[in-house]
Amino acid sequence: MDKFIIMGGNRLHGKVSVQSAKNTVLPLLSCCILCKEQIVLKNCPCISDVKKMTEIIERMGGKIEFCDDDLKIDCSDIHYIEINEELTKSIRSSVFMLGSLLGRFSRATVAYPGGCEIGKRPIDIHIAGLKTLGVQIMETEKFIECDGAELHSDKIILSMPSVGATENMIMAAVLTAGVTVIENAAKEPEIEDLQNFINAMGGNVSGAGSDKITVVGVKRLHGCTYTPIGDRIVGGTYLAMCAGCGGDLTVCNCDMKGLSAVLDVFKACGCWVETCGTEVRLISEGNLRAIPLLRTGPFPAFPTDMQPQICAVLTTADGVSLIEENIFESRFKYVRQLELMGADIAIQDRRALVTGVNALKPSIVSAEDLRGGAALITAALMTDGVSVVYGAEHVDRGYFKIEETLTTLGADIVRVGC
Ligand code: EPZ
Repeated sequence: MDKFIIMGGNRLHGKVSVQSAKNTVLPLLSCCILCKEQIVLKNCPCISDVKKMTEIIERMGGKIEFCDDDLKIDCSDIHYIEINEELTKSIRSSVFMLGSLLGRFSRATVAYPGGCEIGKRPIDIHIAGLKTLGVQIMETEKFIECDGAELHSDKIILSMPSVGATENMIMAAVLTAGVTVIENAAKEPEIEDLQNFINAMGGNVSGAGSDKITVVGVKRLHGCTYTPIGDRIVGGTYLAMCAGCGGDLTVCNCDMKGLSAVLDVFKACGCWVETCGTEVRLISEGNLRAIPLLRTGPFPAFPTDMQPQICAVLTTADGVSLIEENIFESRFKYVRQLELMGADIAIQDRRALVTGVNALKPSIVSAEDLRGGAALITAALMTDGVSVVYGAEHVDRGYFKIEETLTTLGADIVRVGC
């Protein structure tokens, strides 16, 4: 259980290139189950969530090889396994394997993933969609057993634009004869990336990025080499750290479309932002303006995965900001830790009222989840003094060696094993 020791107060400067997006690589790894030839995913981050998903594929008999930043996956000889409680607890995204297991083996058994630090995380929308596709589902106390013998194409209307459910439905339909239409689909850039990946393997998916996705079933998929989009949340996180600390930072290989709402907020705070291709440059003097109302929501709204980080930045902004979290019901747990650092934040239901203070004070805090941990590191970088952030394992789920990247940008941060 590592911790970070951070001497705050340094401005950030320089250039960082983000790797392929965690929330793209995870569904793409699940999708590899549908293909019986080798696939290479380029520029993959060796983060713990990716490693846990590759371990599941290896348990199925798949071959995994990390060559520098290229991830080779060969599912030609895999066998069926149940995604048991140990696996769904180790990584919630294993639920995203329901669709691909059904597409490959016509069956899937997954333990309920349960809630996590940011919410209950139900999977009712996944289950409803699979039932529409003819999957017989038996729910026991701990497991969901899916019989896909009657899996067929159909029209699915999702009750809400769930990212994971959209991805599961696409994967369940890729090798299913006929035309499947998914309405009220999630429109996140990661969905478009999944579509492009499947089509690169010879699949036939269209409409991703809109709320109506069409999947025409094909008989088989062939191998490919694919470069997923850059991680907009990792890029946005480093930009947020620069906004809060002050500095001049360029982030490269960023999916600009997915960052648009985030960049608008940085500009509204008083940062100078310039984009060129897949590069974003942000300059901040550190003295920011408050944001009267910031609402998270499904894409293209402000992404929930950037909510904790921007909240940390706004703790010392001039004025009062109101943040409304509309995706996950428990995504303000990190606020208690920010209050230990002197932040003035009042929580009511899904709203956080952030009153800017002159400065945060160095403290000892603990991360409880991935993006909350990134927010605490952001806050620690903004203080003048030494802070300790416990729970590095949460941050490692989505950020590869964050301390090394921040050190190259001028931060004073070290990782210490506990
Ligand atoms: C994906 O989670 C991402 N994870 C999350 O990123 C991200 O925050 C989320 O999408 C929203 O953008 C991955 O891609 C691996 P949802 P997912 O289904 O698919 C409710 C991070 O920090 N819901 O779009 O689980 C759910 O409770 C992570 O990188 C149901 O009610 O999100 C939530 O309130 C965190 N029933 C809302 O929908 C369901 O069956 C959105 O969830 C499914 C979801």
